[in-house]
Amino acid sequence: MEWTSLNDIREKYLSFFESKGHLRLPSFSLVPNGDKSLLLINSGMAPMKKYFTGEVTPPRNRVTTCQKCIRTPDIEQVGKTARHGTFFEMLGNFSFGDYFKKEATAWAWEFCTEVLEMPVDKLYVTIYENDDEAYEIWTKQNGVDPSHIVRLGKADNFWEHGSGPCGPCSEIYFDRGEKYGCGSPDCGPGCECDRFTEFWNNVFSQFNNDGNGNYTELAQKNIDTGMGLERLACIMQGVDNIFEVDTVQNT
Ligand code: GLY
Repeated sequence: MEWTSLNDIREKYLSFFESKGHLRLPSFSLVPNGDKSLLLINSGMAPMKKYFTGEVTPPRNRVTTCQKCIRTPDIEQVGKTARHGTFFEMLGNFSFGDYFKKEATAWAWEFCTEVLEMPVDKLYVTIYENDDEAYEIWTKQNGVDPSHIVRLGKADNFWEHGSGPCGPCSEIYFDRGEKYGCGSPDCGPGCECDRFTEFWNNVFSQFNNDGNGNYTELAQKNIDTGMGLERLACIMQGVDNIFEVDTVQNT
């Protein structure tokens, strides 16, 4: 794994997903267009909700973006952890009724281990507690060691922000080593300390939340992924926190 600039990581990601048939779109505006459930865009999927529900036909059923985001639910964490920021960029690959768990997880693993050359022994995967299908795919298809797979509950592994498309998710974590750990015997993926850093979320987006906690199955199964660009740069550059990556430091 080599030091890689934030701008190079962005380009490697977008071109990797172009090579997998995705259409690269520019970031949408931070101000939502016709979505009263959000004050500001908080994720790569948010400006494309209607593609997920099938209300609007996307320009292609595979899209990749690097979306400008502001995520306020985490704002109290900013300045306390190494990984939370106010404004950040989110890399994403999206399937609108096209590929699903098998392809999304295989490509995520390929990008991490072959393009970025992350050491496999530093990578961990979490899955939603009862998602046995994801467990089978990660272990049998992608060859992930079962000791590096952790099942977590709804708070960690069911992705939703307000109303709209949502679903169980599977996150990829990087072990930054004991020096970033809390020392607890229970420390592992999902711990609030900065040792095991979640950097990529693969959402198996198959439900719609009406905003009142009522879930209905979407007509199509989708993939919505989100990778924090600054978090990934922090890992790839071996710096302490997201404010020390090259673009923020202007190096
Ligand atoms: N939409 C997936 C994420 O923001 O993590």
